[in-house]
Amino acid sequence: MSTLGYDGKVAIVTGAGNGLGREHALLLASRGAQVVVNDLGGSVAGDGADTGPAQRVADEIEAAGGVAVASSASVSTRGGGEEIVQTAVEAFGRVDIVINNAGILRDKAFHNLTDDLLDSVLDVHLRGAFYVTQPAWKLMRDQGYGRVVNTSSAAGIFGNFGQTNYGAAKMGLVGFTRVLAQEGAKYGIKANVIAPGAKTRMTEDLMGGVADKLEPRLVSPLVAFLAHEDCPVSGQAFSVGGGRAAQIFIGVTRGIYDADLSAEVVRDRWDELCDQAGYVVPSNAMEELGLLLPHLS
Ligand code: NAI
Repeated sequence: MSTLGYDGKVAIVTGAGNGLGREHALLLASRGAQVVVNDLGGSVAGDGADTGPAQRVADEIEAAGGVAVASSASVSTRGGGEEIVQTAVEAFGRVDIVINNAGILRDKAFHNLTDDLLDSVLDVHLRGAFYVTQPAWKLMRDQGYGRVVNTSSAAGIFGNFGQTNYGAAKMGLVGFTRVLAQEGAKYGIKANVIAPGAKTRMTEDLMGGVADKLEPRLVSPLVAFLAHEDCPVSGQAFSVGGGRAAQIFIGVTRGIYDADLSAEVVRDRWDELCDQAGYVVPSNAMEELGLLLPHLS
């Protein structure tokens, strides 16, 4: 079995001072990538800042014979994103891989959600991915190569109580990824998104008895493959954790068609409308629109 290597590739991993990001950075560096280990170093809720976590992981990589540089800029501002990409360019001259992994939690039942809880979570997860990816994207387009791996969550894709802010940000990253995949296709850039599951400081109180089996290192292999030159897909979503990896897809039922669709027709043909037999998985918005066309001709 040939091994997957990253020699000559430069990777940015955000939120790499702890948990999943640390494992992604260690794995890529151990396979030859030069890595920007980015982490603000705050709490799970995103309070505070500390250069320690990013520096410690960069030191760990160097001690193991790898190449890394630490960055403690925040992903949650445009300036922070630019600084992170600039760090990669100054240290290593290019950017091939962006892994948007930084994240915080500020859970609250929807009826009690405040603007502060909403904005801070959108800023880190969703805007943060824009702010880091965009300056890197320009370089990737110019060089005709790039890999972007975003980090979503089952909490957004499938839903989880108390996480409207987080869920909206995480599902937003799925849309972000799907559009990036289309815009990047002719420039050799692929973008994919994962929904991970692992015991980290973010989740250690939430996972119950199985937590110890969900080692963060078991998420990184899928991330590494999606970040590799050989990655065969773009715009796709994957579930990964505890040794299981699977594809998540967005499908649409065949549905119903009636040129005079009314609320009563919807009611009366509801089961047919929702029947998942023969569902379709469109790869873009035009393909979904295409499902209507046979009815119109
Ligand atoms: P973690 O708390 O161990 O790691 C997240 C890291 O992001 C922390 O080191 C933190 O300092 C850093 N960070 C936070 N805000 C930042 C900012 N503005 N700029 C730069 N760095 C920042 O948590 P974990 O579990 O490793 O989370 C990694 C990603 O995976 C997050 O996006 C999280 O939402 C996502 N995720 C994790 C799951 C799990 O089961 N652990 C489940 C679903 C999603």
